[in-house]
Parts: sequence; C-alpha cells; structure tokens
Amino acid sequence: MPVITSLINLKGGVGKTTITLALAHFLAIEHQRRVLVIDLDPQTNATVCLIPETEWKQRDETGRTLYQLFADQVKGTQRFDTDQAIVRNVSNVGGGVQGLDLLPSSLQLIKIQDRITQLTDFDNYQRGPIFALRKALEGFLPYYDHVLIDCPPSLGIVTLNGLAISDSYLIPVVPDILSVLGIPPILDRVEHFARATRHNIRALGIVISKMRAQTILHNEMVNRLRDDFQARRFPMVFETIVPESARIAEAADVMSPVNTLQQKYGNGGPYEALSALSQEFLAHVTR
Ligand SMILES: Nc1ncnc2c1ncn2[C@@H]1O[C@H](COP(=O)(O)OP(=O)(O)OP(=O)(O)O)[C@@H](O)[C@H]1O
Ligand SMILES: [Mg+2]
Repeated sequence: MPVITSLINLKGGVGKTTITLALAHFLAIEHQRRVLVIDLDPQTNATVCLIPETEWKQRDETGRTLYQLFADQVKGTQRFDTDQAIVRNVSNVGGGVQGLDLLPSSLQLIKIQDRITQLTDFDNYQRGPIFALRKALEGFLPYYDHVLIDCPPSLGIVTLNGLAISDSYLIPVVPDILSVLGIPPILDRVEHFARATRHNIRALGIVISKMRAQTILHNEMVNRLRDDFQARRFPMVFETIVPESARIAEAADVMSPVNTLQQKYGNGGPYEALSALSQEFLAHVTR
C-alpha cells in the first residue's frame, strides 16, 4: 500500500499546493515512484498546474472530477468512476511524467461541501460521508507508492475525507508569527479526528517555505520552530527549507513545456532545495 500524506494548514498561501506538486514531481522523476496527487481544494490550483484548463473543464462537465464523487453522496447516485476520473501521466515536464497521476478537483466542490456537511454525523463518523474518498479509491491504492493530498485551507468535510485515508500529514508554514501560532490548532484537530475515526495519522513534520533568509523575523521564527520541536511541543521541522523564489512561483505554469526539473524549477537554489526536500521526505516515510 502507498504512503498517504495530506498537506495541511488552515492558513492560506503557505505553500501547500507548491510543495505537493514539487514532491510529486521529484518522487516520480528522480525516485521513480508511482504517485497519485489528490486535489481536494475547490480552488483547483494543483489540478490546473498538472493538466491544461481546457481538459479539466471537459472532465468537470462530464463527471470526471471529485465534484461527482461528493455529488453522488448528496444525490444518492453512483456516477463517479474512479478509473475514468484519474488522469494518468500528467504535468508539463517531458510531455507528461510516467507514473504521476491526478485525481482532479472542481470549483463546484464549494457548493456541494455545505450539503455533505449537513449529511455528516460529527458524533459518529461511521455514518457520514467521511469515507467516500476511501471507498472510491479501493482497489486503486495498491498501484501507487505515494499518495499526496493537497488540502484547502480548512478542515471541512472534504479535507476530512482526505485525512480519513491518510497515514501521515505535513504542515507547510511560512516562518512568520501567524503561521507559527496556527500550528497547535492543526495538531489538536487532526489528533481529535484520528481518535474519532480510530486510526493513526502521524505528524510527519513541518516544512518551512517561502523563506526570506535576509529577513530577521523569518530567521527568528525558524529558530523558534526548531526550539519548539526540541521541546517536543511541535513535530519535527524538516532540515530543508524552501526559499522564496520567483522560479518556484512560476513553475506552476503548465502551459509552457519543459524537459527537466531543472528547467521547471531553475538551476541551483530552488531546484536543489526541492530535490533535498523530497529526499528528506522519503527518508522519513520509509518504514
Ligand atoms: N517558495 C516559494 N517562493 C515564491 N513563491 C511561492 C513559493 N511557494 C509558493 N509560492 C507562491 O505563493 C502563493 C501561495 O502558494 P500555494 O498556492 O502553494 O499556497 P497554498 O498554501 O496552497 O495556498 P491555499 O491555501 O490558497 O491553497 C502562490 O502564488 C505560489 O506561487
Ligand atoms: Mg493550495
């Protein structure tokens, strides 16, 4: 079975999607792992970074995005077909990366989220639609080495569907005060959910992203995060720090074809950091 990791932070814009996409690319290309990216965010950022927008729209209109899975829960239909919904060998690198697959999201997840929340029994998850994703992926998971789940900046029912299949989670943070203050509530809520659903979800660690090394505040916050880890208040902080870099921000552009990860992320710093991060990630999840 694959290692299934959610990338979570209740704060927006901290690099969840960017790190999900980077890990997916490096694991598939540099480590020959079979990777499934699940985009649970209605903003669909990961989806449109991995497939052209026209393809995504076509899929969305024909029930081949995660919207259909959740619409089925509400409507009592069974239209979602996992095999049809998974897009295989995605990305703008080399015309598509062998072994890098995507379960695409949908803008329409926003409107369905409220309705599935109404169906959820928060006192007894076993009765609610919290395991819809798990059921849909049955039989498909053994094919993959890694599943990476890009979560929206919330812990709604859609995110909980991702957590329900996760055995670990990563917390990307920008080293600023609000991000650091946001960590304990995430730890608490994931732990609470893990207990309620009776499965272990390991806090794999904190990944510092969008680091400005020349900023005093950022350096202070990195030290504080590492101190909190040493004092066992926080999970492990990854050694690798993802720098703020225009190349990393631009790498999201799926329209321009490239052939290598160096071309995608830029030679030197950004590429080296993301490559190191994926190695560190693998070392931590290898059991
Ligand atoms: N290392 C980086 N250097 C520069 N820009 C970055 C970096 N990482 C992410 N960004 C940019 O910051 C913005 C937010 O990043 P991203 O979308 O990955 O965050 P997120 O946590 O997924 O946000 P959301 O909560 O909205 O889903 C994007 O415009 C992205 O291109
Ligand atoms: Mg995102």
